[in-house]
Amino acid sequence: MARAAFLASGNGSNFQAICEAMVDSPHQPAVLVYDRNNAKVPERARRLGVISRYVPYAGRSREEAEEVILEILAPFKPDLIVLAGFMRILTEKFISRYEGRIINIHPSLLPAHPGTHGIEKSYRSGDKELGITIHQVDAGLDSGPILKQVSFRREGGETLSEIEERIHTLEHTWYPRVVLELLDQIETETTGR
Ligand code: GRF
Repeated sequence: MARAAFLASGNGSNFQAICEAMVDSPHQPAVLVYDRNNAKVPERARRLGVISRYVPYAGRSREEAEEVILEILAPFKPDLIVLAGFMRILTEKFISRYEGRIINIHPSLLPAHPGTHGIEKSYRSGDKELGITIHQVDAGLDSGPILKQVSFRREGGETLSEIEERIHTLEHTWYPRVVLELLDQIETETTGR
């Protein structure tokens, strides 16, 4: 059994998709940390039976907020940190604590369209190929090594909401798969099996 901790800021549909996929796996969601008090994600955690903790960034530095997050995470001994719509950039210090074990999903084919509004930017760009990227996290903006990209060709004439739906369906299919694969790998490495 390996454990994933989650950092999220908003809706939490990817968090939920991963937790639901974990039910039929040997792995477990350890804890959710969220940084916005109007986020929907803690309600999803409550329904899924996952512990959640609120860590606001307002009124303190990024380093101070991250110290609190690190303290919350430590007793859960997470094997993997999964960013699921977490709208903050992590510092080198935080990343080095979980070196190579922090991943993120982004709704565009990186390096195209990093940052917020990835779907809308991809949609309006006229790019023929759209999709999602799952990547390791470094201290940049959506810039770490790519683990998986899944794309589709736009037919032309799709509305923004049709494209959004297609992207979210891809996310909810592939993010759980990649997380479970990584947890399998981590378990194999640690148990030698
Ligand atoms: C997703 O589109 C993800 O790619 C991006 O933020 C969004 C989060 O959605 N990083 P949700 O909170 O998982 O519903």
